[in-house]
Amino acid sequence: MARSKRSYLYPLLLTASLIYIAYVTLTNLFFDPQAVDFLSHKMNLKRPINLPIWLNVMHVHVVAACMAMLTGIFNFSNTLLRKYRKLHRVNGYLYVIFVFVVVLTSGYMAPYSTGGKASSLPFNLVSIVWFAMTIAAIVQIKRKQVSKHRKWMVRSYVFCFTNFFIHLFSYILHKGGGLPYELSYTLGVYGAILTNFILAEIVIRFVYVKAPNVAVQ
Ligand code: HEM
Repeated sequence: MARSKRSYLYPLLLTASLIYIAYVTLTNLFFDPQAVDFLSHKMNLKRPINLPIWLNVMHVHVVAACMAMLTGIFNFSNTLLRKYRKLHRVNGYLYVIFVFVVVLTSGYMAPYSTGGKASSLPFNLVSIVWFAMTIAAIVQIKRKQVSKHRKWMVRSYVFCFTNFFIHLFSYILHKGGGLPYELSYTLGVYGAILTNFILAEIVIRFVYVKAPNVAVQ
């Protein structure tokens, strides 16, 4: 029997996530570990940056973000969920820890954001909302609400693509639209947040239509 279109979505997302993780790791930890390119755009900082600390925090941020992406994507696998329930659970808690580390490190970096307050404010709001959505997913599964758990995890997981969308939008606006880098970056932050919310609702409405076929223990 021909496989449904939906059955190709997971391998596609898995491949895209793995490629993005490899790209983020290579660029930020190996090719440009001092973030020379990114920092060159920070023109009008209100407070001086402590570079060694900022770089260490950014590296922890990147590693935790990649681990959140990795643990998150594996938990959307139906096979893992059905055959290795305990692994899904442990992996899920690891995801929560990695999200917490990303949020914590984001809190340190936000005051130095490119674009100033206009960027740091949405970054801080995302930190609160992202972590709250992740906790909501845990609360729902504790109540044995599998469908609601999955929906909140989708809403949480799309935020792993925040950095990807920020760079995508700011690149288009800066290189394509000719806007100054700082403004492009700030608009990229807002565009990424909006895209994350819309994307999650699209996935919930059109991909996860049926209730999950798993027994809750
Ligand atoms: C989970 C996927 C994420 C990845 C892979 C990631 C990666 C990065 C990287 C590589 C940087 C360094 C600068 C750059 O090249 O952009 C960065 C900066 C930053 N990230 Fe993330 N990030 C992620 C999610 C988030 C989320 C969800 C938030 C908000 C809660 C956040 C907040 C920040 C902040 C505030 C900065 C500093 C921005 C600046 O200095 O202008 N990140 N991130």
